[in-house]
Order: sequence, then structure tokens, then C-alpha cells
Amino acid sequence: MPIESTLRHFQCEIDSNKVAWVYFDTQDANANTFNCETLTELSQLVFSLQAQSLRGLIITSRKKNSFIIGADVHAIGKIKNESEAYQLILEGRQVFDNIAALPFTTVAMVNGFCLGGGLELALACDYIIVEDSSTTKLAFPEVLLGIYPGWGGSVRSVKRLGVLNAMDLMLSGRFICAKQAKKIGLADILVPKRHLKRAALTAVLNPQPLQQPVFWLRALNHPSLRPIIGRLLSKKTAAKASPEHYPAPFVLIENWVKNGVEAAAFQDEAKTVAHLITTNTSHNLVRVFHLRERLKAFTKIDEDTISQVHVIGAGTMGGDIAAVCALHGMRVTLQDTNFSIVAKAMGRAYTLFQQTLKEPHLIQAAMDRLLPDVAGDGIEKADLIIEAIIEDIAAKQALFKTIAAKVGNHVILATNTSSIPLTEISAVLQKPSQLVGIHFFNPVARMPLVEVVSSPETDKRILSRAFKFVGQLDKLPLPVASQPGFLVNRVLMPYLLESVKLLEEGYAGDTIDKAACDFGMPMGPIELADKVGLDVCLSVARNLTAYYGGEVPELLINLVNEKRFGVKTHRGFYEYQSGKPLRNKEISMKGEEVIIERLISCFINESQRALTDKVVSDADLLDAGMVFGTGFAPFRGGPLHYADVIKQGEQDNANR
Ligand code: NAI
Repeated sequence: MPIESTLRHFQCEIDSNKVAWVYFDTQDANANTFNCETLTELSQLVFSLQAQSLRGLIITSRKKNSFIIGADVHAIGKIKNESEAYQLILEGRQVFDNIAALPFTTVAMVNGFCLGGGLELALACDYIIVEDSSTTKLAFPEVLLGIYPGWGGSVRSVKRLGVLNAMDLMLSGRFICAKQAKKIGLADILVPKRHLKRAALTAVLNPQPLQQPVFWLRALNHPSLRPIIGRLLSKKTAAKASPEHYPAPFVLIENWVKNGVEAAAFQDEAKTVAHLITTNTSHNLVRVFHLRERLKAFTKIDEDTISQVHVIGAGTMGGDIAAVCALHGMRVTLQDTNFSIVAKAMGRAYTLFQQTLKEPHLIQAAMDRLLPDVAGDGIEKADLIIEAIIEDIAAKQALFKTIAAKVGNHVILATNTSSIPLTEISAVLQKPSQLVGIHFFNPVARMPLVEVVSSPETDKRILSRAFKFVGQLDKLPLPVASQPGFLVNRVLMPYLLESVKLLEEGYAGDTIDKAACDFGMPMGPIELADKVGLDVCLSVARNLTAYYGGEVPELLINLVNEKRFGVKTHRGFYEYQSGKPLRNKEISMKGEEVIIERLISCFINESQRALTDKVVSDADLLDAGMVFGTGFAPFRGGPLHYADVIKQGEQDNANR
């Protein structure tokens, strides 16, 4: 029996030109991934094709929107130890080496997502033919899981693209589109979908010279140049991530510096990636990957997409929410009390579209989707109405009363309130079930998390459609209960207030901020408070301490009285120049341990209290909220997970 007929995940057809067309189609899954089963099948298939007299092999996908999305992350998480990891890596690499060594021309025909191991497979082929479409995305996201490409991809990408382009992809994990792939030499040919097959076949029947980086890029692989480039790459990387917390990018650079693209580079790649997979950093980043998937799953409960949005309040939040909705293809009407406020928001939206969309016709189309609407005519046409007016209960109640009289039952009424309980706003509504909280964070365009707030009255369908809406904006919805501060502000505030107390006790702001960054926070709490605005911090702190207890430090009150609001007034805890805090050149780190201990225990204690109060339904959602809402050190897996690890360590020590 031919091997092809025994495979579950691959189909193979040999055409009249003696070209084998291999279709990857992982069963019972929406996308193709590599796991033990699919790799074994691919290995068997390649082995059988090796023995046939063929002119070429074209590997493609049966999935509509993707080629291969990489290794199965669940499988990575289950690897028990370094030797098991090493074995699995060697087996995978062997398959790709066998493809690279086939005695006939090989082509990867790529559509949609081509990620991680999928891109490594493509690189093992002679040619990469890519669908010229906005849905095509290529990336090496391994670094986001605490590893780097381990099936030969770290070496093959440098060979094909040159060290600068390849490292840029591998060190950042960023997704690139088809045109960028062509520009850096990752794609040989870009064609529209309808020409893909013909282009792939032509590449086999009429092979062109293989893709190579230009001479000067190849020259950078010379042993005398590698240490210099390596130092520059490491320095640039260290500005974004510390080697102690995120070792993978530094190990990747080291391997290239040591071995260039020689055979030893493949061996060291396998050994070092096997080690990295078993580090706590990788385990926790895999955990964060699953937390992200868990939040994304909420966006898939409902099928019903939102196409028309009406936003009321064109201030800091409303203006930016409207812009982000238009950016993601929705038609938006934007209302405020007068046209000049809306016009300012339109100006900010234009800047966002320019930065994100780049091409004039796309920018124009986004502007066309965003309409100023001082009269509120959009209310009656909208699927979703979101209110972002001043934080005042009477104003919000009056507004929702007027709106509710004009719209049908299916319309989602949403509030962006950061502190008013839903039930208080909905008390004036005939159908309180229609109201949901959709709480964005500032700056809206950059923050990935959105808290979706429900009360016991909120209708389940309104809630699931609100999740879907957040997903349409490419953001992560976190379901939270309508309690003061919801989750993120509630947990963040005691941590920020503790940092102000430390300042009052005489620790320097620079020391406190550096201690938090050394722990793994993306920004220190003092700088963060200045960024949020000390006036905003004070008002939230007063609200939350009134409810949950605790004291508002005098220093914060005094600075607000002096109108030192932070970055926006160029003075807060720090003085600012061009939006950057003026810091001391020499930072003393005396007392760092005490600072970290005090700051992080505030974070953990409030997280535990919020969980007990059922603000979110379980510890994983809490960790997800804090990682995506505040940037809590992702390599530590979230505050509650971190607390568990510490507790476990203490117990282990006690048992010794
Ligand atoms: P803002 O003061 O910048 O904007 C509020 C806007 O609402 C103003 O332009 C005002 O003219 C307009 N407005 C007031 N009453 C109105 C009415 N009846 N009809 C139409 N427009 C009206 O306020 P911001 O900061 O944008 O906050 C808006 C809401 O978002 C508040 O509920 C706030 O708690 C919440 N929020 C604020 C965040 C922030 O960082 N600023 C973060 C998350 C939520």
C-alpha cells in the first residue's frame, strides 16, 4: 500500500509533470500545526517521495486562511525535560533536513499564516511562493514563548535573508506581510491567489537562481565581523528585555556569533533550544500564550458582528474608541456637546490612521467610516452605542434614558465608566439587561485588554456580542463583575499607592522605578502614575480607598494641589523634558529587595482579595487581566501564579 493512502493529515497527488503536490490538512483542527503525529506523517511522506523519480515537490495547505501556524504549543508545554526536548527537536529537524536534501526542486506555496515551524519548513524548501494578500502573515513568534526557531530555521533564515533581516524577525517575533516578505527576500514571488498554483509549478519546471542576500549582508557572517554585530544586536535587545528574564534572544545571538551559518550552528541550535524550553521563563510564557487564547475564546462565542457603532463623548477615551472602531472597519458616528471637540478627535483619528494604515486610500477609507454627529443621528442606526462622557452618575443616567427610548432591544448599550456600578446607571432603564460595561484602557489604540463588565442583570447575549465586538477590535476581552475598580484598577492602585509611600519614606523615585523594572514590570510605578495623571490617580485612589480601605498618601494630594499632574503638565513626581522623566545619572539600588517585596506583595494581596470577591471567575483570568492590562512581568506567569511558585519554593525548602 502506498504510504500516501495511510496518512491522516497529508494528501499527496502526483501530476502529469511528475510534480508531487503535498497538501497539509491537520484533521479536527482549523489550522495546521506540527506535533508528533503530523511530523511523523510528514517524515514518512518525504521518505517515500525521496525514492521516486520526480521533478519537484510543492508543499501547501488545504486550510483556507493559513499555511502552517507552527508547532502545537500544547505539545511544547507538555515536554518534561531537556533530553526529551532535545530528542523531539532532532526528530523535527531531521524531517526538514530531509526536505532540504531532496534531489529535486522544492517549493512552499504559502497562503495566510506561515508561523514558527511553518516558516522553518518553508525555509527548508528551495522557493517560497507567497499569496499577495492582506491576510498573508509570516513570523517567527518563538521568542514570545521563551525559545527561538529550533528546527534549523535560525540558521536557514540567516543564510537566506542575511543576519540583520533574519535577526530582526527572530528577535522581535513580529508579523510581516507578503510585501515585506518579498522585500527582505523571504518570499521569492508574490502572486494573487488565483495564480498561486501556476507560479509554484513554474518555479519547479523553470527554476531560477536561489534567493541569496546581497554580498555585504553575506559578508557579515565572517568570523571577524560576527562579534561586533553580535554586541550591537545584544545591546539593542537588552534595551527591551533583560537577559536574566528573557534569555532566548541572547542565546540565539550567541549561537550565531559562535558558529555563523556553519554545521555546528544547527547542533548548538538544537541543544540550546532544548534547554530554553525547560526554563521557567518558557513555561510561564507558554502559560501566557494559553491565557491569551482563553481570552480570545470569549470573542468566538457569538457570531454576530458589529458593523455600526455610535460613540458619545469625544474626549480622551471616546474619541480614541471611535477611531479604533473605524480603524477596524466599522462605520462610526461620534457625538459630543459641540463640533470643535469632535473635530479634535477626528484630527487624532487621522494621525492614528496615518501611523497604522500608511497607504492614502486606506487612510481615506477609514476617515470616510468615521462621521462627526453632534446631533446624535447615528443612535438609531447603531448596533452598539458606547458612552464615554464625564464620570458623573446623573449625567450618565440622563443620557442612557434618552438613548434607550430611541433604540430596539437588540442594540448593545455600553458604558466606558471606570468606577460607577452598572446597576446604578441601569436603574433608570426599563431594560437594565441591555447595559454592559466595555472598559477600555488609556491609550486605547495601544492597550490590548478591555474589561467587559456585567451585572447579574446583564443579558447573556448582549454580553457575548460585547465580547465579539472587543475581538473585532483585535483586543482581548476580560469578563469582570461590576465591582468598584473592576479588576485592573483595583489591583494596580494599592501597588501605586505603596510606591508613593516609599517615596515619602525617602526612597528615590529612580530607585523605586528601577526596582520594579528589575522585577520585570514594563515601567516603574512612579513613572506610571505620572503617565496616567496624578489627578486621575488621586480621584481613583479616593474612590477605591473609600470602598476597600487604605490611605491616600499626603504627597499625592499635595502634588495635585500644586497642579503637578504628571507628564501632561510636564511636572509630577518627576520633571519632564520631551515627555521623558529627568532621572539621576547614578541610581542607588540600596534597599531594592525591600522595595520589590513591598510593591509586589501589594499586587499579590489585592489580587487574592479580588479573586475572593469573585471580580473574575478564576485565578487564570485574574493573571490574564494583570499581564495584559498592566504588563505584569509575563515571564513570571501572572501575580497569582508567581505567588504559588514562591509558596511552593518555601514549602520545598522547609521539607528539605
Ligand atoms: P473627557 O473629559 O476627556 O471626555 C468626556 C467628553 O464627554 C467631553 O468631551 C465632554 O464634552 C463630553 N460630554 C459630557 N457630557 C456629554 C453629553 N451629555 N453628551 C455628549 N458628550 C458629553 O473624559 P475621558 O477621560 O475620556 O473619560 C470618559 C469616560 O471614560 C469616563 O467615564 C471615565 O471614567 C472613563 N475612562 C477614562 C479613562 C482615562 O484614562 N481617561 C480610562 C478608562 C475609562
